[in-house]
Amino acid sequence: MSKIISIVSGKGGVGKTTSVINIGSALSKFGYDTIIIDGNVDTPDLGLHLGMPNQGTNLQDVLTDEKSVYETVYLHPNGVKVVPAGINMWSLMNLSKNNLKKIKGLKNYCNAILLDCPPGINDEAENCIKVSDEVIVVTNPNILSTTDALKAVVMARKHKKKVLGVLINRKNGKDYEMSDANISEFLGIPLLGVVPEDEKVMKSLNERKTVVDAYPSSKASIGFKKIAAKIMGQEYKDIEEGLWYKFKKLLKLN
Ligand SMILES: Nc1ncnc2c1ncn2[C@@H]1O[C@H](COP(=O)(O)OP(=O)(O)OP(=O)(O)O)[C@@H](O)[C@H]1O
Ligand SMILES: [Mg+2]
Repeated sequence: MSKIISIVSGKGGVGKTTSVINIGSALSKFGYDTIIIDGNVDTPDLGLHLGMPNQGTNLQDVLTDEKSVYETVYLHPNGVKVVPAGINMWSLMNLSKNNLKKIKGLKNYCNAILLDCPPGINDEAENCIKVSDEVIVVTNPNILSTTDALKAVVMARKHKKKVLGVLINRKNGKDYEMSDANISEFLGIPLLGVVPEDEKVMKSLNERKTVVDAYPSSKASIGFKKIAAKIMGQEYKDIEEGLWYKFKKLLKLN
């Protein structure tokens, strides 16, 4: 049976959805049957990130008791499975967010589930944490998002969820940034991994692709793949960093 891992932050815009789509796609490339779920029901955008803005059955239909969760799983061309949330405003009516626990039914059918959480420390974020088994906290290396991240850690602890660690996203290595060690110490949780600031992330978003698909050897891709491997307790060994890959790239063979 798989675990549900929720990706939380506190502060908005730090890179939760980007992390979910890329770690999920990386896990799927590594051979793990992976489902990513848009738990950001009020302002969903996971499907938009992936070029699949959903008009069909989606998570809201589960929350309104109209569909079973099994009817909401879509297969992305890269192999990851996606449960989108509807982008239609009307679909926000009559939702029972308590029904989110129905996603637990998917645990028997895959190796990993990643739940993209809404920003903020609110009921919606708390519901996501409640249905999950483990939590990853995303922050940027600055005091504002790290302070908000602490609130997410507190909420996870309140519900006795295991916090896998902090994902530091958009690090650019400038000396005014908080250090990895400071962030980890401030939050009282281990460092899960670091993803650098990388314009390839924006480029891939513009192409409606994940960065691990569109630019597999980019700095951000390598960061996300290392984190995906670590979540599964594996060491990251990527042929894409090897000489043969670089040679093929030079010759534009891939
Ligand atoms: N490592 C990175 N390098 C450059 N840009 C990034 C990186 N990570 C994320 N971004 C960009 O930051 C923006 C916000 O990312 P994203 O939507 O994933 O954040 P979020 O935490 O899910 O936001 P929200 O709280 O609103 O749901 C996007 O435009 C994304 O492309
Ligand atoms: Mg998001």
